Amino acid sequence: MSKAVVLRWGHRHRDERLTTHVALTARALGASGLILTDVKDERIKKTIDEVVSKWGGPFFFKMGVSWKAALRDWRAKDGLVVHLTAYGENIQVGDVIQRVKETGKDILVIVGSQKVPSEFFSPEISDFNIAIGNQPHSECASLAVFLDRLFKGKIKKFEDAVLQIIPQKHGKKVISKVKPK
Ligand SMILES: C[S@@+](CC[C@H](N)C(=O)[O-])C[C@H]1O[C@@H](n2cnc3c(N)ncnc32)[C@H](O)[C@@H]1O
Repeated sequence: MSKAVVLRWGHRHRDERLTTHVALTARALGASGLILTDVKDERIKKTIDEVVSKWGGPFFFKMGVSWKAALRDWRAKDGLVVHLTAYGENIQVGDVIQRVKETGKDILVIVGSQKVPSEFFSPEISDFNIAIGNQPHSECASLAVFLDRLFKGKIKKFEDAVLQIIPQKHGKKVISKVKPK
């Protein structure tokens, strides 16, 4: 199955929690990693590393690379690029997710924050511009729906987890394992 990596463009330090939530969403819903472009934020890296160490991985977090370099590297590996935007083809009504899957390629999923560079919409950058409904909302919400449709709700197996939630009809159950040294 294709793998997905998320490219987060436009992180603002004063809005640290949103990028953290994008990374947590990416990890929980099956992406292999997240590239935070153009900036470095050690606090987010620490949070994500802690989550991976407690709740399992693998999930990589890279930061500081320019978005142009990240895209060039991805293209060099013949990867596909999907830009999530309210202005794209609506995933709810057409066959766009089918067309993405048919490529069989690994996918770089771009999510923005404030207004993204106009090049993101062009075919030189994005093979697909995909909307999770043509109304503006949030990078976390759009990423969650996209990954869920891409992986069809298939649950990723998290390795080396110390904590694991056992689903309950009511109440909370978490089992804790000792991490092998
Ligand atoms: C708060 S929105 C930014 C909207 C910004 N005002 C614009 O016009 O680009 C942040 C990010 O969420 C994602 N997003 C928001 N609504 C979306 C939608 N309906 N479909 C897909 N992605 C969406 C996009 O990746 C967008 O860059």
